[in-house]
Amino acid sequence: MQRSCESLIEEAKKVSNNAYVPYSKFKVGACALFESGEIYSGCNVENSSYGLSLRAERNALSNAIAAGEKTNLVAIAIVSPNMKFCTPCGACRQWITEFSKDAKVILENKDGSIAVIPIEELLPYTFEL
Ligand code: THU
Repeated sequence: MQRSCESLIEEAKKVSNNAYVPYSKFKVGACALFESGEIYSGCNVENSSYGLSLRAERNALSNAIAAGEKTNLVAIAIVSPNMKFCTPCGACRQWITEFSKDAKVILENKDGSIAVIPIEELLPYTFEL
């Protein structure tokens, strides 16, 4: 990995400060690293019609695709400033696996321990067309 897990976590923490979370008050930041070496960040953006809210992971990955990245995701760091391991929801796991079956999910807990989990472990037998 051209970038350290720590630097992706730092970027994810930075963008989590911008999360728009008037309803849950639960800020999430995500930072995705692609093989190009570029990183793309995203935070959650909630809406008064709850179901329309954007997840941090999908926001970061959409930014990457808009910038021209393809299915070459290396890793995605996901943090919430309340600092428990913020494991991605099932739908976000499906989103992550879309952009690489080998991507690593990087998480940090409140003690500063880092977990690096292959997406394949978080979502085995993934749906594929
Ligand atoms: N959320 C994310 O953005 N990513 C996750 O992995 C977990 C949950 C958001 C959705 C909602 O805005 C808030 O966190 C509480 O569920």
